[in-house]
Amino acid sequence: MPLLHPLEPLTAAEVERAIALLRATPEFTSATRLISVMLKEPPKELVHAWPSIDLPEREAEAVLHDNARNACFLVDVNLATGAVSSPRYAPAGSQPTMSTDEQVECEQAVLASEEFRAALKKHYGIEDTSLVMVDIWSAGNYGSEEDRTRRLARPLCFLRSDPTDNGYVRPIEGIRPVVDLNEMKVIRVEEYGVWPLPPKAGNYSARRVTNQREDIRPLVITQPDGPSYTLDGHQMSWQNWNFVIGFNAREGLTLHHIRYNDGGRLRSILYRASLTEMVVPYGDPSPQQARKNAFDVGEYGMGMCANSLRLGCDCLGYISYLDAHLCDSRGRALTIPNAICIHEEDFGILWKHTDRRLPDEPEVRRSRRLVVSSISTVENYEYGFFWYFYQDGNIQFEIKLTGILSLGALHAGEKSPYGALIAPQLYAPNHQHFFNVRLDFDLDGTPNTVQRVDAEADPLGDSNPFENAFQARPTILTTEKAAQGHLKLETARTWRIINPSVKNAVGEPVGYKFMPGDNSFPLASPNAWWRKRAGFVNYHVWVTPYQADERYAAGDYPNQSSGGDGLSKWTEADRPVEDKDVVFWYTFGHTHIPRPEDYPVMPTAYIGFLLKPNGFFEMNPANDLPPSAPKKSHCCSGT
Ligand code: NI
Repeated sequence: MPLLHPLEPLTAAEVERAIALLRATPEFTSATRLISVMLKEPPKELVHAWPSIDLPEREAEAVLHDNARNACFLVDVNLATGAVSSPRYAPAGSQPTMSTDEQVECEQAVLASEEFRAALKKHYGIEDTSLVMVDIWSAGNYGSEEDRTRRLARPLCFLRSDPTDNGYVRPIEGIRPVVDLNEMKVIRVEEYGVWPLPPKAGNYSARRVTNQREDIRPLVITQPDGPSYTLDGHQMSWQNWNFVIGFNAREGLTLHHIRYNDGGRLRSILYRASLTEMVVPYGDPSPQQARKNAFDVGEYGMGMCANSLRLGCDCLGYISYLDAHLCDSRGRALTIPNAICIHEEDFGILWKHTDRRLPDEPEVRRSRRLVVSSISTVENYEYGFFWYFYQDGNIQFEIKLTGILSLGALHAGEKSPYGALIAPQLYAPNHQHFFNVRLDFDLDGTPNTVQRVDAEADPLGDSNPFENAFQARPTILTTEKAAQGHLKLETARTWRIINPSVKNAVGEPVGYKFMPGDNSFPLASPNAWWRKRAGFVNYHVWVTPYQADERYAAGDYPNQSSGGDGLSKWTEADRPVEDKDVVFWYTFGHTHIPRPEDYPVMPTAYIGFLLKPNGFFEMNPANDLPPSAPKKSHCCSGT
């Protein structure tokens, strides 16, 4: 029986115990919502010393919200002794993540509202609300008194034509209820005009799409001897990689203590990797659309919105699943079965060479990657989070964006310059998706340094007679402000995380390269309301010294916050980051100008980044891969 790794997420029994202890405290009343219960991670230095030392008892940390007092507070629970800490109150007005129960209750409150029903009848002649869909949508903060003092939602509403219809293509454009989530009631209904419901159905479910194509033959992946990984609890071991798979209500999938077995030496690479925040700002200034934006991590909880992949997994081959043990907001344990998917994939050629003088001995190795993934549905949209581990030391993170666009209605013959007409009287506003990932590197130890690497041409002159010379020029990032930076295509800019104290086989510091993928700049003004709360979009790259409580790029409570929290606030101190325990934060954006082909459901868009060993290993670590077994060929039969 392997030791329970100290960073394993809470078990179902631990969640149950934590909840029971919380419910027994005087602060837990009928007005209390339990927002989240997750592992309180032990101090990092102790984890690095484990298992040579004993660790302190396991603890849970809980975020709670009191609807009666509009007050958010945190509590720690010692799972061994049962001790519960005194509540630590968040600053007044802090709004924790909206829970999935609140999504459901908010819909019920809107549908029960006399004012909402009267508006529906007046503008659309609708009296039966059984087919009306109400999506909660966060309210944000636009400087008003109520934004600071109430727990709010500004739902978007849609009308299905029947119970299995895709209602998102029939937006009730002119009516916006505003809901106080503490009182769980509609406080007013804003009316912006009347747009008829778009006339055309837009369905995608298998039961509604007729004439499905019939020319797809089976493609079967078999692994007759099982997978090449070993999963003990949440500890993964695969092709020299060792790490722990975590999960929590806010970030969803997290990875911990990523190490590589390099010839018998277990070398540390990343201590923790997670998606810490994201925001989707929309670019349409029309009054009924202008407030649309969503911080899907801090406002909705990426883990809370995770799919159970039992029925909806798109993976092939041998698959292992892990459950997520969370809570609902009424203080009940909640398990999402099969929230995390683990499998191996063939990934084409890893390396190849044919020696012209040995033509019968081509050397080729197939690449296999380990995939750890989860998928979250945030109302209309899907985000898939895929971590890939490769045999050559690469680690890749890829986000898959799919689901249904957030849509608006237009009058017949009308167009909007701020979106694309995708079906008659139906348009999709332009928007961006910004993600922030926190990478806590501990490369061969905790003191690390980050370099920005720019490829630059040499000046012209006698030493560059053919005018062809260029060099990779590293700049050591010494402080937080010096480290703030953007991608730069002109210099093929990358970043390198090094450990200056550990030298590789050629006498250089060991390192890993950070290779950005697609990215964007925010198109809204820095003074736009949503950007005040999303300082993390101001730079693509940030580096901070490790602080256990600096976890989320937009701060702990971005929901309805007045802004200025998180990375932009912490880095004001301009702390030194050279040869320190550094955290590398990457913000990446996808600018989505919609198209008719994104309707009715959007083909997956991909965005992410790659980490490559760069002087970490002595040579290609996949030089020791054996050739694949000879295969029976079915090709070239002409059928
Ligand atoms: Ni999009």
